[in-house]
Amino acid sequence: MKKQVRKAVFPVGGLGTRFLPATKALPKEMLPVVDKPLIQYAVEEAAASGIEEFIFVTGRGKHAIEDHFDVPYELNQTLSERGKKNIIDALGNWMPRPGQIAYTRQMEPLGLGHAVWCARNYVGNEPFAVLLADDLVMSQEPCLKQMIDVFEEAQGNVVAVMDVARDHTDRYGILEVKHDDGGKLVQVSGLVEKPKPEDAPSTLSVIGRYILQSEVFDHLDGQQVGAGGEIQLTDALAAMVGSQPFCGLRFEGTRFDCGDKIGFFEANIAFAISRDDIGEAVRKVLTDYV
Ligand code: UTP
Repeated sequence: MKKQVRKAVFPVGGLGTRFLPATKALPKEMLPVVDKPLIQYAVEEAAASGIEEFIFVTGRGKHAIEDHFDVPYELNQTLSERGKKNIIDALGNWMPRPGQIAYTRQMEPLGLGHAVWCARNYVGNEPFAVLLADDLVMSQEPCLKQMIDVFEEAQGNVVAVMDVARDHTDRYGILEVKHDDGGKLVQVSGLVEKPKPEDAPSTLSVIGRYILQSEVFDHLDGQQVGAGGEIQLTDALAAMVGSQPFCGLRFEGTRFDCGDKIGFFEANIAFAISRDDIGEAVRKVLTDYV
Protein backbone atom coordinates (compact mmCIF):
# COMPACT_ATOMS: atom_id res chain seq x y z
CA MET A 1 0.00 0.00 0.00
CA LYS A 2 1.27 3.47 -0.84
CA LYS A 3 2.23 5.59 2.15
CA GLN A 4 0.81 9.05 2.79
CA VAL A 5 2.32 12.15 4.38
CA ARG A 6 0.02 13.11 7.27
CA LYS A 7 2.41 14.77 9.70
CA ALA A 8 4.60 17.85 9.50
CA VAL A 9 7.40 18.94 11.81
CA PHE A 10 8.11 22.65 12.31
CA PRO A 11 11.53 23.19 13.91
CA VAL A 12 11.26 26.56 15.68
CA GLY A 13 13.92 26.13 18.35
CA GLY A 14 16.68 28.24 16.77
CA LEU A 15 18.06 31.42 18.33
CA GLY A 16 17.56 33.70 15.32
CA THR A 17 20.76 35.63 16.10
CA ARG A 18 20.75 37.33 12.69
CA PHE A 19 17.64 39.22 13.75
CA LEU A 20 18.80 40.47 17.12
CA PRO A 21 17.64 42.60 18.86
CA ALA A 22 14.18 41.84 17.35
CA THR A 23 14.52 38.20 18.40
CA LYS A 24 15.67 38.87 21.95
CA ALA A 25 12.16 38.30 23.32
CA LEU A 26 10.25 37.48 20.10
CA PRO A 27 10.67 34.18 18.24
CA LYS A 28 12.09 34.71 14.73
CA GLU A 29 9.22 32.60 13.38
CA MET A 30 6.75 35.20 14.72
CA LEU A 31 8.24 38.03 12.62
CA PRO A 32 5.48 39.22 10.29
CA VAL A 33 5.63 39.38 6.52
CA VAL A 34 3.17 42.25 5.97
CA ASP A 35 0.72 41.28 8.75
CA LYS A 36 1.11 37.53 9.19
CA PRO A 37 3.81 35.69 11.18
CA LEU A 38 6.19 33.49 9.20
CA ILE A 39 5.05 30.41 11.10
CA GLN A 40 1.42 30.97 10.06
CA TYR A 41 2.42 30.97 6.38
CA ALA A 42 4.17 27.61 6.94
CA VAL A 43 1.24 26.06 8.79
CA GLU A 44 -1.23 27.30 6.17
CA GLU A 45 0.96 25.82 3.43
CA ALA A 46 1.05 22.47 5.25
CA ALA A 47 -2.71 22.46 5.85
CA ALA A 48 -3.39 23.35 2.19
CA SER A 49 -1.15 20.40 1.23
CA GLY A 50 -3.25 17.90 3.22
CA ILE A 51 -1.23 17.72 6.48
CA GLU A 52 -3.34 16.61 9.46
CA GLU A 53 -0.87 16.71 12.38
CA PHE A 54 1.38 19.65 13.19
CA ILE A 55 4.40 19.03 15.43
CA PHE A 56 6.37 22.01 16.72
CA VAL A 57 9.88 21.64 18.10
CA THR A 58 10.20 24.75 20.25
CA GLY A 59 12.73 26.13 22.71
CA ARG A 60 13.21 28.77 25.36
CA GLY A 61 11.32 32.02 24.76
CA LYS A 62 8.99 30.59 22.12
CA HIS A 63 5.70 30.87 24.04
CA ALA A 64 4.32 33.40 21.57
CA ILE A 65 4.11 30.58 18.98
CA GLU A 66 1.90 28.45 21.23
CA ASP A 67 -0.27 31.46 22.03
CA HIS A 68 -0.63 32.21 18.33
CA PHE A 69 -2.12 28.75 17.74
CA ASP A 70 -4.73 29.20 20.46
CA VAL A 71 -8.11 30.90 20.76
CA PRO A 72 -7.53 34.50 21.99
CA TYR A 73 -10.40 34.54 24.46
CA GLU A 74 -10.15 38.16 25.72
CA LEU A 75 -9.52 39.55 22.23
CA ASN A 76 -12.49 37.64 20.79
CA GLN A 77 -14.67 38.90 23.64
CA THR A 78 -13.71 42.52 22.95
CA LEU A 79 -14.10 42.13 19.18
CA SER A 80 -17.48 40.51 19.70
CA GLU A 81 -18.66 43.40 21.91
CA ARG A 82 -17.58 45.77 19.13
CA GLY A 83 -19.49 43.76 16.50
CA LYS A 84 -16.36 42.67 14.64
CA LYS A 85 -17.29 39.05 14.01
CA ASN A 86 -15.54 39.09 10.62
CA ILE A 87 -12.19 39.72 12.35
CA ILE A 88 -12.82 36.90 14.84
CA ASP A 89 -13.53 34.56 11.91
CA ALA A 90 -10.39 35.65 10.05
CA LEU A 91 -8.30 35.04 13.18
CA GLY A 92 -9.59 31.53 13.65
CA ASN A 93 -10.74 29.96 10.42
CA TRP A 94 -7.25 28.90 9.24
CA MET A 95 -6.25 27.27 12.52
CA PRO A 96 -5.69 23.54 12.99
CA ARG A 97 -8.36 21.94 15.20
CA PRO A 98 -7.78 21.12 18.88
CA GLY A 99 -5.61 18.01 19.15
CA GLN A 100 -4.00 18.45 15.75
CA ILE A 101 -1.03 20.38 17.20
CA ALA A 102 1.70 18.97 19.44
CA TYR A 103 4.67 20.73 21.01
CA THR A 104 7.97 19.38 22.22
CA ARG A 105 11.03 21.31 23.40
CA GLN A 106 14.47 20.94 21.93
CA MET A 107 15.95 22.08 25.26
CA GLU A 108 19.23 23.10 23.59
CA PRO A 109 19.54 24.52 20.06
CA LEU A 110 22.07 21.95 18.86
CA GLY A 111 21.17 22.22 15.19
CA LEU A 112 18.40 21.45 12.72
CA GLY A 113 19.15 17.70 12.71
CA HIS A 114 18.78 17.64 16.48
CA ALA A 115 15.52 19.61 16.31
CA VAL A 116 14.02 17.12 13.83
CA TRP A 117 15.25 14.19 15.96
CA CYS A 118 13.36 15.65 18.95
CA ALA A 119 10.10 14.98 17.05
CA ARG A 120 10.80 11.24 16.59
CA ASN A 121 8.24 9.94 19.10
CA TYR A 122 5.50 12.14 17.64
CA VAL A 123 6.25 11.10 14.07
CA GLY A 124 6.64 7.36 14.70
CA ASN A 125 7.16 5.03 11.79
CA GLU A 126 5.74 6.98 8.85
CA PRO A 127 6.93 9.49 6.25
CA PHE A 128 6.66 13.10 7.35
CA ALA A 129 7.26 16.63 6.14
CA VAL A 130 9.62 19.22 7.61
CA LEU A 131 8.95 22.92 6.99
CA LEU A 132 11.31 25.72 8.01
CA ALA A 133 9.17 28.79 8.52
CA ASP A 134 11.98 31.16 7.63
CA ASP A 135 11.94 29.82 4.08
CA LEU A 136 8.80 31.43 2.71
CA VAL A 137 7.57 30.29 -0.70
CA MET A 138 5.22 32.31 -2.89
CA SER A 139 3.58 29.99 -5.42
CA GLN A 140 0.33 29.15 -7.16
CA GLU A 141 0.30 25.61 -5.76
CA PRO A 142 1.71 25.19 -2.23
CA CYS A 143 5.35 24.06 -2.41
CA LEU A 144 4.70 21.14 -0.04
CA LYS A 145 1.74 19.99 -2.16
CA GLN A 146 4.01 19.90 -5.22
CA MET A 147 6.39 17.70 -3.21
CA ILE A 148 3.64 15.41 -1.93
CA ASP A 149 2.53 14.84 -5.53
CA VAL A 150 6.08 13.68 -6.32
CA PHE A 151 6.23 11.57 -3.15
CA GLU A 152 3.03 9.74 -4.06
CA GLU A 153 4.82 8.31 -7.10
CA ALA A 154 8.39 8.08 -5.77
CA GLN A 155 7.64 6.94 -2.16
CA GLY A 156 11.09 8.02 -0.94
CA ASN A 157 12.77 11.16 0.33
CA VAL A 158 11.93 14.36 -1.51
CA VAL A 159 13.67 17.71 -1.02
CA ALA A 160 12.70 21.03 -2.64
CA VAL A 161 15.60 22.55 -4.52
CA MET A 162 16.51 25.70 -6.40
CA ASP A 163 19.48 26.77 -8.50
CA VAL A 164 21.80 29.25 -6.76
CA ALA A 165 24.85 31.21 -7.88
CA ARG A 166 28.06 29.14 -7.50
CA ASP A 167 29.60 31.72 -5.15
CA HIS A 168 26.65 31.21 -2.77
CA THR A 169 26.97 27.44 -2.31
CA ASP A 170 28.61 27.92 1.10
CA ARG A 171 25.27 29.21 2.48
CA TYR A 172 23.20 26.09 1.72
CA GLY A 173 22.91 22.31 1.72
CA ILE A 174 23.94 21.35 -1.83
CA LEU A 175 22.95 18.27 -3.84
CA GLU A 176 25.18 15.90 -5.72
CA VAL A 177 23.11 14.54 -8.60
CA LYS A 178 23.48 11.55 -10.88
CA HIS A 179 22.17 13.34 -13.88
CA ASP A 180 20.59 16.76 -14.35
CA ASP A 181 18.88 17.63 -17.61
CA GLY A 182 17.49 20.84 -16.08
CA GLY A 183 14.04 19.26 -15.66
CA LYS A 184 11.73 19.29 -12.65
CA LEU A 185 13.13 16.18 -10.93
CA VAL A 186 16.72 15.19 -10.15
CA GLN A 187 17.96 11.92 -8.63
CA VAL A 188 20.09 12.66 -5.58
CA SER A 189 23.41 10.85 -5.23
CA GLY A 190 24.76 12.86 -2.28
CA LEU A 191 24.39 16.00 -0.16
CA VAL A 192 26.94 18.38 1.34
CA GLU A 193 26.31 21.13 3.90
CA LYS A 194 27.64 24.56 2.92
CA PRO A 195 30.46 23.51 0.55
CA LYS A 196 32.96 26.08 -0.72
CA PRO A 197 32.11 27.11 -4.32
CA GLU A 198 35.15 25.22 -5.67
CA ASP A 199 34.12 22.01 -3.84
CA ALA A 200 30.35 22.18 -4.50
CA PRO A 201 29.13 19.11 -6.44
CA SER A 202 26.36 21.22 -8.08
CA THR A 203 24.60 24.54 -7.62
CA LEU A 204 21.30 22.96 -6.56
CA SER A 205 20.49 24.12 -3.06
CA VAL A 206 18.02 22.45 -0.71
CA ILE A 207 15.43 24.85 0.72
CA GLY A 208 13.54 24.37 3.97
CA ARG A 209 11.00 21.83 2.69
CA TYR A 210 11.58 18.09 3.09
CA ILE A 211 9.58 14.87 2.90
CA LEU A 212 11.50 12.25 4.85
CA GLN A 213 11.29 8.60 5.73
CA SER A 214 11.34 7.77 9.44
CA GLU A 215 14.70 5.97 8.95
CA VAL A 216 16.24 9.45 9.17
CA PHE A 217 15.86 9.17 12.96
CA ASP A 218 18.19 6.13 13.01
CA HIS A 219 20.86 8.29 11.40
CA LEU A 220 20.18 11.21 13.76
CA ASP A 221 20.38 8.91 16.82
CA GLY A 222 24.18 9.11 16.61
CA GLN A 223 23.99 12.90 17.32
CA GLN A 224 26.99 13.41 15.07
CA VAL A 225 28.19 17.01 14.99
CA GLY A 226 28.80 18.44 11.50
CA ALA A 227 29.39 21.79 9.78
CA GLY A 228 29.35 24.80 12.10
CA GLY A 229 29.49 22.53 15.19
CA GLU A 230 25.77 21.69 14.78
CA ILE A 231 23.93 18.39 14.36
CA GLN A 232 23.06 18.77 10.69
CA LEU A 233 19.98 17.33 9.01
CA THR A 234 21.94 17.31 5.76
CA ASP A 235 24.40 14.72 7.16
CA ALA A 236 21.57 12.34 8.10
CA LEU A 237 20.03 12.79 4.63
CA ALA A 238 23.37 12.08 2.97
CA ALA A 239 23.57 8.83 4.95
CA MET A 240 20.23 7.68 3.46
CA VAL A 241 21.29 8.18 -0.15
CA GLY A 242 21.57 4.82 -1.89
CA SER A 243 19.33 2.91 0.51
CA GLN A 244 16.09 4.68 -0.46
CA PRO A 245 14.70 6.55 -3.46
CA PHE A 246 15.80 10.18 -3.08
CA CYS A 247 14.88 13.01 -5.38
CA GLY A 248 15.09 16.76 -5.60
CA LEU A 249 12.16 18.78 -6.95
CA ARG A 250 12.72 22.08 -8.71
CA PHE A 251 9.50 23.53 -7.28
CA GLU A 252 7.45 26.16 -9.02
CA GLY A 253 7.43 29.40 -7.07
CA THR A 254 9.70 31.97 -5.45
CA ARG A 255 11.50 31.29 -2.21
CA PHE A 256 12.44 34.07 0.19
CA ASP A 257 15.14 33.45 2.80
CA CYS A 258 13.45 35.23 5.69
CA GLY A 259 16.20 34.17 8.11
CA ASP A 260 18.29 36.85 6.42
CA LYS A 261 17.51 40.59 6.60
CA ILE A 262 17.59 41.22 2.85
CA GLY A 263 15.48 38.14 2.06
CA PHE A 264 12.99 39.12 4.76
CA PHE A 265 12.77 42.65 3.40
CA GLU A 266 12.28 41.34 -0.14
CA ALA A 267 9.50 39.00 1.03
CA ASN A 268 7.70 41.92 2.64
CA ILE A 269 7.82 43.88 -0.62
CA ALA A 270 6.77 40.92 -2.79
CA PHE A 271 3.87 39.90 -0.55
CA ALA A 272 2.76 43.52 0.01
CA ILE A 273 2.63 44.43 -3.69
CA SER A 274 0.73 41.23 -4.48
CA ARG A 275 -2.07 42.19 -2.08
CA ASP A 276 -5.35 43.58 -3.40
CA ASP A 277 -5.88 45.84 -0.40
CA ILE A 278 -2.47 47.56 -0.13
CA GLY A 279 -0.54 46.53 -3.27
CA GLU A 280 -1.06 49.74 -5.21
CA ALA A 281 -0.30 52.00 -2.25
CA VAL A 282 2.91 50.08 -1.50
CA ARG A 283 4.03 50.36 -5.13
CA LYS A 284 3.53 54.11 -4.92
CA VAL A 285 5.53 54.36 -1.69
CA LEU A 286 8.37 52.35 -3.26
CA THR A 287 8.36 54.46 -6.41
CA ASP A 288 8.48 57.66 -4.32
CA TYR A 289 11.51 56.36 -2.41
CA VAL A 290 13.43 55.03 -5.37
P1 UTP B 1 18.67 28.71 11.08
O1 UTP B 1 19.75 27.96 10.47
O2 UTP B 1 18.17 29.90 10.35
O3 UTP B 1 19.19 29.13 12.55
O4 UTP B 1 17.48 27.73 11.38
P2 UTP B 1 18.62 30.10 13.64
O5 UTP B 1 19.33 29.80 14.91
O6 UTP B 1 17.13 30.07 13.74
O7 UTP B 1 18.99 31.58 13.13
P3 UTP B 1 20.38 32.38 13.13
O8 UTP B 1 21.23 31.72 12.08
O9 UTP B 1 20.96 32.34 14.51
O10 UTP B 1 19.97 33.77 12.74
C1 UTP B 1 16.53 27.32 10.42
C2 UTP B 1 15.30 26.79 11.15
O11 UTP B 1 15.66 25.70 12.00
C3 UTP B 1 15.29 25.96 13.34
C4 UTP B 1 15.13 27.47 13.43
O12 UTP B 1 14.22 27.82 14.47
C5 UTP B 1 14.65 27.85 12.05
O13 UTP B 1 13.24 27.74 11.95
N1 UTP B 1 16.32 25.44 14.26
C6 UTP B 1 17.63 25.70 14.05
C7 UTP B 1 15.91 24.71 15.36
O14 UTP B 1 14.71 24.45 15.57
N2 UTP B 1 16.87 24.26 16.23
C8 UTP B 1 18.19 24.50 16.05
O15 UTP B 1 19.01 24.05 16.88
C9 UTP B 1 18.58 25.23 14.92
